[in-house]
Amino acid sequence: MFISFEGTEGSGKSTQLKLLVERLRASGYKVAVNQEPGGTVIGREIRRVLLDPAHAEMASMTELLLMFASRAQAAAEVILPALSRGDLVVSDRFTDSTLAYQGAARGLGFDLVRNAHRLALGSLQPDLTLCIDLPVEEGLARARHRNEGNQMARSEARFDQQCLDFHLRVRAGYREIAEAEPERVRIVDGSGNSAAVFERVWALVEPALSENRS
Ligand code: TYD
Repeated sequence: MFISFEGTEGSGKSTQLKLLVERLRASGYKVAVNQEPGGTVIGREIRRVLLDPAHAEMASMTELLLMFASRAQAAAEVILPALSRGDLVVSDRFTDSTLAYQGAARGLGFDLVRNAHRLALGSLQPDLTLCIDLPVEEGLARARHRNEGNQMARSEARFDQQCLDFHLRVRAGYREIAEAEPERVRIVDGSGNSAAVFERVWALVEPALSENRS
């Protein structure tokens, strides 16, 4: 089974991913974890190019293709081998990020992103996608707080620096994806503390796991 986490900046998705991986491993599952962009040695080099705030001139198409370059490498090196061993895969972002950020917010459109997905990844899709939803202003405030005094986060701030309207379009993009594929993509209320949000996450993952086993 392949599970992905999605969300806008500072939505808390990476914390939820960590909590889920811990819970799954404690329950005896073998879990491969992927991060996008990133996830492999090559992917992390691509990530550095993508997120460097100095690269303000990057064209949307370049951005899209680099996201898929990182993803194709993660599929070959991490995701497909794990799924064929029968392990679980949990990914911090996947193609729904590209639909929301490059398709909706940058304006490239869903059709173009879906075509690029088919070219790079064929029919590979998560079985379950958890989209952690939080008002954009709240998430951005959290992300800025996290970035302060954190050299690593500051070197990856190109998207955090986009205007508020960009992030509102990302959130609207996620809602559109969830409406189009309500079975796979579940919006999770990201408000409250991480334990409360995790209860909502587990309430969706647990039944999906038993369904997948039967
Ligand atoms: P991430 O490491 O998840 O950052 P954060 O935890 O701050 O949300 O993702 C890095 C950035 O890359 C994030 O701003 C979203 C962006 N992104 C895209 O624009 N398209 C994509 O396909 C992916 C995977 C990420």
